[in-house]
Amino acid sequence: MKRTRIAGTGSYLPQKILTNKDLESIVETTDEWIVQRTGIRERHIAAEDEQTSDMAVVAARQALAHSGLSGADIDGVIVATATADRPFPSVAVAVQDALAIGKGPSFDMQAACCGFVYALSTADSLIKNGIARRLLVIGAEKFSSLLDWSDRRTCVLFGDGAGAVILEACDGQGTSADQGILSAHLHADGQYQGLLHVPSETGFIEMDGPEVFKFAVNSMSGIVAETLESTGLEAADIDWLVPHQANIRIIEATARKLKMSMDQVVVTVDRHGNTSAASIPLAFHEAVSSGNIKRGQVVLFEALGGGMTWGSVLMRF
Ligand code: UT7
Repeated sequence: MKRTRIAGTGSYLPQKILTNKDLESIVETTDEWIVQRTGIRERHIAAEDEQTSDMAVVAARQALAHSGLSGADIDGVIVATATADRPFPSVAVAVQDALAIGKGPSFDMQAACCGFVYALSTADSLIKNGIARRLLVIGAEKFSSLLDWSDRRTCVLFGDGAGAVILEACDGQGTSADQGILSAHLHADGQYQGLLHVPSETGFIEMDGPEVFKFAVNSMSGIVAETLESTGLEAADIDWLVPHQANIRIIEATARKLKMSMDQVVVTVDRHGNTSAASIPLAFHEAVSSGNIKRGQVVLFEALGGGMTWGSVLMRF
């Protein structure tokens, strides 16, 4: 059976690290409050002149190197981002140009923090339909550009960065026979737009934290059940959970639902904060390159974002 596998991964984090202690001198907050309520200790912040596309290109270059491929081997690019450099052209075509990627489909997708899950699933469909053979899928964000640095409810939560994967068709034979995406589930409910949004009047993120928290815990538990039911797998068949990194308490609640030990959960929120669409590919790259996630293991990606949008992708790596 034709499947889509991940051939390689890459990531990029800006040089500047902003710690909770640093934030204590910017807004009325404490390291203790941030760690207890979110698990975040520090985050990376892009330089003023560093754009989302700059970060995306570095992560993509690393994913190419990791796969032993060059730009010419790739058909197109999907970039999940809510912080594109400009309204258009897309970040994706900037990456395509920088890396001399082929002339297949290249476009940005916007599903806020769930963007990478949406992009993975879309790329999987394009590959299964024969529209592309290999696609670069990137999550890249400069959320620091959407923060009101006088609002302690939001400015302590987010960070910048990019993560990339290369997806390719595999024909179900040879060493990669059982690798690939097993199922994908995508949802959105526009009734809840106001819970987490960027009003055009201010250009800054506003969030009803406690309501988003409740929505996240419920929807993540629902998406896990939906994924298992559709694949006929049991929670015990999942080797790794790679969740969106918004809050350690949400991540722990999802792991409890799956009866997974936290040793099987990739956590980067302590060092990256919430990097929106970049958080899953950043975490995944870290776990693959440290040798924790191995070929043949079953990995569940899941995320929730403004919209509200939520979804999951289950894959054998
Ligand atoms: O990526 C997309 C998905 N996003 C999420 O999943 C985020 C979901 N929400 C959350 O993670 C949590 O709701 C937050 C971390 C955003 C907030 O934590 P909370 O435990 O829900 O706190 P809260 O908003 O209920 O605020 C509790 C108190 C308030 O003070 P009062 O009204 O009780 O006096 C806030 O004003 O904490 C105060 N507070 C802070 N205090 C110190 C809010 N932000 C801060 C801060 N430092 N940075």
